[in-house]
Amino acid sequence: SDCLNVNELGHLTIGGLDTVALAERYGTPLYVMDEDQIRRNCRKYKSSIDRFYGGKGIAAYASKAMCCKAMCKIAMEEGMGLDVVSGGELYTAMSVNFPAERIYFHGNNKTVEEIAQALQYGVGRIVVDNLTELELLNSLAASRGKNADIMFRIKPGIDAHTHQFIRTGQIDSKFGLALETGEAMDAVKKALALPHINLKGLHCHIGSQIFDISPFELAAQVMLRFIADIKRETGVELHELNLGGGFGIKYVPDHQPVEYDRYMESVSKVVHAACAELGLEIPYIIIEPGRSVVGDAGVTLYTIGAVKEIPNVRTYVSVDGGMADNPRYILYQSEYHAMVANKTGLQRDMKVTLAGKCCESGDLIGEGMLIQQAKPGDILAVLATGAYNYSMASNYNRLPKPAVVMVKDGDSRVVIRRESYDELLQNDLL
Ligand code: LLP
Repeated sequence: SDCLNVNELGHLTIGGLDTVALAERYGTPLYVMDEDQIRRNCRKYKSSIDRFYGGKGIAAYASKAMCCKAMCKIAMEEGMGLDVVSGGELYTAMSVNFPAERIYFHGNNKTVEEIAQALQYGVGRIVVDNLTELELLNSLAASRGKNADIMFRIKPGIDAHTHQFIRTGQIDSKFGLALETGEAMDAVKKALALPHINLKGLHCHIGSQIFDISPFELAAQVMLRFIADIKRETGVELHELNLGGGFGIKYVPDHQPVEYDRYMESVSKVVHAACAELGLEIPYIIIEPGRSVVGDAGVTLYTIGAVKEIPNVRTYVSVDGGMADNPRYILYQSEYHAMVANKTGLQRDMKVTLAGKCCESGDLIGEGMLIQQAKPGDILAVLATGAYNYSMASNYNRLPKPAVVMVKDGDSRVVIRRESYDELLQNDLL
């Protein structure tokens, strides 16, 4: 990624700062994020919305990828919208005075409290997932004398995760309303009839870490056809289309993600062509990148401990973190690129299984990884951990959550403090 380099000591740097020095100063495990890289990523999306939709749209940062006050503030300052999926993410956003009208509130099972919170803050759009939620929202809005601006989450029936992505009849998903069964159209008609609901548009999200453009193009087409169907059946034309997130990033050298501009250009062509064909106005376009905003801006630093060679089998190199700070390997067998941060000049000739310190055999960061000859006390850097690492971290084995440090302009600052043992106990009662 653009923010990583090597200095004269042969140490890995992020945002110009020596990762070995950062590990020394703040301790390990440590998440480090480069603020300029995050801002560059935000600006790429913003400029492609400007270029391909004449500014008629917004990129909303999917805060599930990495949510804290500092991140919400950066997204706010960059003029982005924000995708939140819980009362906790919403509360974090409001704590830095994120403009509520730029917030999109998602979730397939929002609680009464969360919906009430969203109405009270006046979030811009509640993305309604199902009929239960629609009726609940209508009645909660009514009792507060408010109207709720909503979008519906639609299942466009596209599985972007198969190698050759497929158009399934009706994807088996807990999210959203199905087109084929008429569920989505029924919900639209119901919403149009409800007094405290303003239906503004539609939303879909087809998956994550996607490298192909075609499933995004197909999704846009399916959604616009549905907008045309709605217009034909009800006379109402919806003017907002949220196409979700899912843009892939490079975790390992052979990953070839598509440039944002190419996604945006291709999809915008489809949008313009479909609108012309269907006699629709170009809707206000919302996209919701999460991973691709923060993923490549982050690294995790660990201290290497035990190195255990099992002859003819494998070598375990253990670090002082693991599945508690990065559960993505145990969950998805996700691939990462790692290096010994204090030895980047050496050959990567040690094939290792990178293990964590949790009491669980599956607690690995990766297998068959090539790194420099590692010794206890070395600093290990795992790259591209800015997304879905801190946000998915747990306290398994009562490991305190690591600190998050942000680097910018040659300086570093803590944006999330390392959890202390006392903080681990703060909600325990006897
Ligand atoms: N919008 C909606 C409605 C979503 O559900 C998601 C991600 C996004 C936007 C952002 O997608 P992104 O641009 O980050 O791909 N924990 C998994 C990823 C789960 C993504 C869930 N939804 C992982 O670590 O790979």
